[in-house]
Amino acid sequence: MTTAFAPGKVILCGEHAVVYGRPAIAVPVGEVQARATVEPARDGRGIVVDAPDLNRRLVVRESGDDDPLARIVRLALQAMDVPGEPDLTITVTSTVPVARGMGSGAAVSTAIVRALAGHYGRWLSSRDISDLVYQTELIYHGTPSGIDNTVVAFEKPVYFVRDVSCEIFWVGRPFLLAIADTGIESPTREVVGDLRRRYRTDPAGYEPLFDRAGQIAVEARAAIERGKAETLGPLLDENHTLLQAMGVSCPELDRLAVAAREGGALGAKLSGAGRGGNMIALVTDETKGRVDLALRLAGAARIIVTEVK
Ligand code: MEV
Repeated sequence: MTTAFAPGKVILCGEHAVVYGRPAIAVPVGEVQARATVEPARDGRGIVVDAPDLNRRLVVRESGDDDPLARIVRLALQAMDVPGEPDLTITVTSTVPVARGMGSGAAVSTAIVRALAGHYGRWLSSRDISDLVYQTELIYHGTPSGIDNTVVAFEKPVYFVRDVSCEIFWVGRPFLLAIADTGIESPTREVVGDLRRRYRTDPAGYEPLFDRAGQIAVEARAAIERGKAETLGPLLDENHTLLQAMGVSCPELDRLAVAAREGGALGAKLSGAGRGGNMIALVTDETKGRVDLALRLAGAARIIVTEVK
């Protein structure tokens, strides 16, 4: 039996703009994770994926390539030149909340690839894994930038420019993020698609918003490298304002961001696709308790505090 894991993630800044070629920063969240176990089977059914947390159980040979679980299994076996169709049971569990901008699909796919690689005694680089997982992100998200599969596979903070570069960068001083769930599902594919339709009708209105969001990613990276949380906070606030102007926030996210700031956070913004999902706030050891209370009073369904390092 071989078991492998993969973390969740949040986008620190630059979501949506990253789809339009601007830089963005994402960080792994190890407090939530997907786990995949591969075991040999002898029932002649080929590969069966059992994913109770996702309410899924599927026989790969009976599933089309539009199913992300079947697709990632086939892609991983092809990448490792595994001949024929082995009899395997792959069990997947995950604590990464689904449809909350925390990279649930990428985490599940990454854990499956890692577990299959472990089972066959093969080594795949983080880049190889990320590229395979991107193929399933296409099913989940339609036009993904690739940032989710990258940060989950590399498990490090990444500065990412679509189709151009992915840099793992230095965190000058570790910092804390409080991640607060609105409890509302955030369908990335729909939010990205709606923004694209609005963009097409008014590109000149949206380009400056994307430009500034990209510039914020540049400035945020510099602040993180220098360990300047006091500079990073206002950049997160400004990014939230830009995301509001892009039309991807919602009253629940705005309420959580205001509550976090009033509770003492250095900055706060929605994270991921928006219209639900999670809000992130930059906190310190001194303020995290007050921010946690403020977020609960403002209706947060769940709060995770993670250290970015
Ligand atoms: C989703 O986590 C982030 C978005 O920018 C979409 C993408 O990058 O593919 C909204």
